Amino acid sequence: MEKLLSGINLPGSGISRNLRSRVIQSPLAGVTDQTFRQLIRKWAPDTLIFTEMVNATSLELGHGECKVNELAAEQGPIGVQLLDHRPAPMVNAAIKAEESGAYLIDINMGCPVKKIAHKGGGSGLLKEPTLATEIVQAVVKAVSIPVTVKTRLGWCQDSSDPLGFALRLQDAGAQLLTLHGRTREQGFSGTSNWGAIGAVKQKLDIPVIANGDIKSCSDALRCIALTGADGVMIGRGSMGSPWLIGQIDAAIKGNPIMQNPEPKEIIKLILEQLNSLLEKKGDHGLLIARKHMSWTCKGFPEASCLRNALVRAQTPMEAIKLLEDKLVSFN
Ligand SMILES: Cc1cc2nc3c(=O)[nH]c(=O)nc-3n(C[C@H](O)[C@H](O)[C@H](O)COP(=O)(O)O)c2cc1C
Repeated sequence: MEKLLSGINLPGSGISRNLRSRVIQSPLAGVTDQTFRQLIRKWAPDTLIFTEMVNATSLELGHGECKVNELAAEQGPIGVQLLDHRPAPMVNAAIKAEESGAYLIDINMGCPVKKIAHKGGGSGLLKEPTLATEIVQAVVKAVSIPVTVKTRLGWCQDSSDPLGFALRLQDAGAQLLTLHGRTREQGFSGTSNWGAIGAVKQKLDIPVIANGDIKSCSDALRCIALTGADGVMIGRGSMGSPWLIGQIDAAIKGNPIMQNPEPKEIIKLILEQLNSLLEKKGDHGLLIARKHMSWTCKGFPEASCLRNALVRAQTPMEAIKLLEDKLVSFN
């Protein structure tokens, strides 16, 4: 397979994709909505971004359709991540996502949440490799866009066989594997085991993306050097720092790395995100914006004071006024 130094090549079973960036924004439930994705693309227009995960059974029942219906408006590569333990709903959801404009389909085999994993979905599939491969085979057969998998090192340390699992997924037709260097048992504790990711990367023919604890350009470059991974996926690092993906993209390509935005730009960004959420969700947008505001409002004098006031604002107008007053204070 051709190896692109500044991108990733995914042949697909019918439609091939050439990613022009080796950094990927991870799917983050409750975070990677359309507004958040637009912010990421300001700094990283070419990066692959994922929708919030879509539960295939829920989609069959008519829930979560908005996540798929909004794909057409996306300005760059947008992957749809599907979650379920039954092949048939996964196939139906994948077909719907492809028809709606998905750039690729990702299958979630890493979600540690109890009510999902214990039913057999997400990281539950780590305990059912045969079912996991059946799902991949069925989805690959049903769509022509590339199908990828995001998973962890194993269910627990004792049963962990990341290479064996990865080879089965590759044989089943997965075109890219993202590996979070923790087991399901670890949740988010400890540190991501980049060495274990590197050991899998060495033996696979498909691209491997390293994930876990990459929070800066230097983390990303160290991780790629250590693992030999084809790319890196960033999760928590971009929460509150949507410019990070663009900075890492530049670092990997050897381009100049843009500075973090000035405080005034950060306030404008918070305002833009709030207004976009209010436009899309009405007053409920304020509740969604709260967590983003608490993450983004940092790194300048009196940021904590403003942050505290923003998360307590009872109405959109109150929050907007706080931000506008702060902007005036910079002049
Ligand atoms: C708030 C939150 C939501 C997440 N939602 C998803 C998800 O929907 N699908 C998924 O595969 N992983 C999800 N993850 C896991 C991340 O994608 C990523 O694998 C993990 O956070 C490790 O990467 P990081 O250290 O860069 O954050 C989520 C993580 C967080 C913190």
